[in-house]
Amino acid sequence: MCGIIGYAGHRPAVPIIVEGLKRLEYRGYDSAGVTFAQHDELHVIRAEGKLCELETRLNGQDMFHATTALGHTRWATHGLPVERNAHPHRDPGGRLALVHNGIIENYQPLRKRLKDKGRTFFSDTDSEVLVQLIAELWTSDITLREAFSKALAQVEGTYAAALLNLDEPNKIWAARKSSPLLLGVGVGENFVASDIPAFLGYTRDVVFLEDGELVELEPFSWQVFDAATLEPLEKKVHHITWDFQAAQKGGYRHFMLKEIFEQPAVIANCLAGRVDGKALSVTLPELESLPVPAQIQIVACGTSYHAGLWGQHLLESWAKIPVRVEIASEFRYRNPLFMPDDLVLAISQSGETADTLAGMRLAKEHGVPVLGLCNVLGSSVTREADGVIYTQAGPEISVASTKAMCSQLVLLTLLALYWGRRKGTLAREVETSIITGLLGLPQVLEAELPRLRGTAQELASEYSTANSFFYLGRGPAYPLALEGALKLKEISYIHAEGYAAGEMKHGPIALIEPEFPTFALALNDALLPKVVSNLVEVQARNGRVIALCQSGFELTVDHAWEVPQVYGPLNSFLALPALQLFAYEMAVYLGKDVDQPRNLAKSVTVE
Ligand code: M6R
Repeated sequence: MCGIIGYAGHRPAVPIIVEGLKRLEYRGYDSAGVTFAQHDELHVIRAEGKLCELETRLNGQDMFHATTALGHTRWATHGLPVERNAHPHRDPGGRLALVHNGIIENYQPLRKRLKDKGRTFFSDTDSEVLVQLIAELWTSDITLREAFSKALAQVEGTYAAALLNLDEPNKIWAARKSSPLLLGVGVGENFVASDIPAFLGYTRDVVFLEDGELVELEPFSWQVFDAATLEPLEKKVHHITWDFQAAQKGGYRHFMLKEIFEQPAVIANCLAGRVDGKALSVTLPELESLPVPAQIQIVACGTSYHAGLWGQHLLESWAKIPVRVEIASEFRYRNPLFMPDDLVLAISQSGETADTLAGMRLAKEHGVPVLGLCNVLGSSVTREADGVIYTQAGPEISVASTKAMCSQLVLLTLLALYWGRRKGTLAREVETSIITGLLGLPQVLEAELPRLRGTAQELASEYSTANSFFYLGRGPAYPLALEGALKLKEISYIHAEGYAAGEMKHGPIALIEPEFPTFALALNDALLPKVVSNLVEVQARNGRVIALCQSGFELTVDHAWEVPQVYGPLNSFLALPALQLFAYEMAVYLGKDVDQPRNLAKSVTVE
């Protein structure tokens, strides 16, 4: 998501900031900006679009006396990707400038309170609230450190934030909670940044900030504090030996692996501001003014289509809304029939997929409202849809989609809960169990991911000679089987077929032989006995079987791959990364180009 870099040192700061921002480009962004103090003024220079636009604005600026500065690349979440929403944001008095990565969940009540006190806002962002709040709290009897700490105590949500103050122009204040931020410790110069590549050209000595920590840095000193009590903390300096490439991927070998491991944070981000952990309820303000649809037509491609198929199960069983799911390239040429009060739900990570956009336009021509479920703010889907729900997964760089699907599944779960509640079709006990399960997922998954990877590695070395794979599942696990097969195909180039397990005996079973193994989703649900019968049929034909299962059910297969038990269909959130990691490890074992598979593009903007 957004990228932050701050520099306090002895060299002209702005060129170092721009260089750092370039090294954070991989995180994705749609606007950028810098701030520095010079000639008794806090300058803020921002530009919509790529960094070259910012560089054009900086050209010819008198800025070389500033040896401290902050920079930011913004990946829009609240407010369009336009210049007024780009960071840094200044307080109206022009004394403070702030950059922020994360989501201030309670920005609306805070903004209202500050407006009621006479403050004027200049952007649509949640971030501006933070700098205005700090300015409001920074009275003559307290330090900026104290004001920053007080403001952070009032803020709900996630943040990595850095602050510059005109009165102390060689100092930076920064803090983090659930968004990355670290220090680069140099000689006579110090850095704060979202990621190591931003300052790797200057220092390899790094201090990792933890949640709830606040730091003050100057050219020759830095000190970390507990953000709430302002007690000074001892921190260890780590020496990094990564090269630039490795650093961009956070030490992971590939972006795909990094993105798979980001999924616990992605789930937490999707829930932030939408699930009330105390009331155990879901709020989707984007949908409040819309009626509950009588019928939903989901339109999507590839992985997003699989997410739609999965969502169909939840929307139909919890919200009792009939759902049809169709591949966008079919839908757009089929003269589909629409009923009154239909809603088209367009699912797309990129928001630029040509077929999905064409499907949306077709629906709109028929007067059917379109809701977009999308990751990229300001993309075509978000601009053309009548309403948008953002998946907030952060930029996905690997061509093979992983964390985006995870975020789509979370949002589809929330939609089913939300409409189920509005329609009164969902028992309260079920609703609270699902929400409790959702809230616990990030922790369960975080703990499980390393184990899943270990098993995936073992299996990859054993199955890498297979020429073909079946992936089988039933119910909500059937779309996961399709997704598992797609992942294996696209990055390892092994032929794979995803099938509804019950459909095997209608033809495909003829292909079974030892070199054509089956990857089954045998998760604990009402359909498990049926899946087991299908696996027995495969084994009777000498087919080898890997089965993803949960404890408490004895499976006699070649490899029973156990994942933890979680509530109902939430088990998909553990099965999905297992499928992704299996495909990933197979591709790595076979020496394939994981992040840039042949013939594929990240965003399919042509028919
Ligand atoms: O950006 P979108 O979600 O609209 O993209 C749809 C598909 O092109 C995409 O999911 C594709 O199938 C991925 N390569 C799957 O990993």
